[in-house]
Amino acid sequence: MKAFLVALVVAIELTLVFAGCPTIISKNRWGGQQASQVQYTVKPLKYVIIHHTSTPTCADEDNCSRRLVNIQNYHMNQLDFDDIGYNFMIGGDGQIYEGAGWHKQGAHARGWNSKSLGIGFIGDFQTNLPSSKQLDAGKKFLECAVEKGEIEDTYKLIGARTVRPTDSPGTLLFREIQTWRGFTRNP
Ligand SMILES: *[C@@H]1O[C@H](CO)[C@@H](O)[C@H](O)[C@H]1NC(C)=O
Repeated sequence: MKAFLVALVVAIELTLVFAGCPTIISKNRWGGQQASQVQYTVKPLKYVIIHHTSTPTCADEDNCSRRLVNIQNYHMNQLDFDDIGYNFMIGGDGQIYEGAGWHKQGAHARGWNSKSLGIGFIGDFQTNLPSSKQLDAGKKFLECAVEKGEIEDTYKLIGARTVRPTDSPGTLLFREIQTWRGFTRNP
């Protein structure tokens, strides 16, 4: 009985460690404003679209937060979006930051927003790769999204440049995601 309980506790802890999703820095914590309007999506989503923010990157939470406040202001004030355009952002510090969030439509790839999760890697990856921390965080986050049933387990992973006239997610990050689960050029 005791051995069984120990095994059970170990199994539960392993589940928590390995199946757990990374901590997500809430919009409130990074200093973002609430959306001015929300449109919902239905899970599981079939597509994931990878972007870069086309800004300098950031290596700690303070600087990533400042970067995101600027991006959100630009999206809401200049582009007239209802929120920061991405569903989630991945910092150079290896942390996940909440954008529009789960079950909500982002504004990141016209024509695709209602059926995709938009993930923005903070930085410009035309000639540099994201840090390994940042890449690992992105991959773990996608596994987590499958485990939570937020995206289909046969999800299709798309670089923004495949569906929109943009450089995003940058040539080097685009090359990198070609080795990731679900990648397609023909969504
Ligand atoms: C954060 O930004 C400040 C001001 O730009 C800079 O001096 C500092 O080195 C940055 N910290 C990190 C960890 O990148």
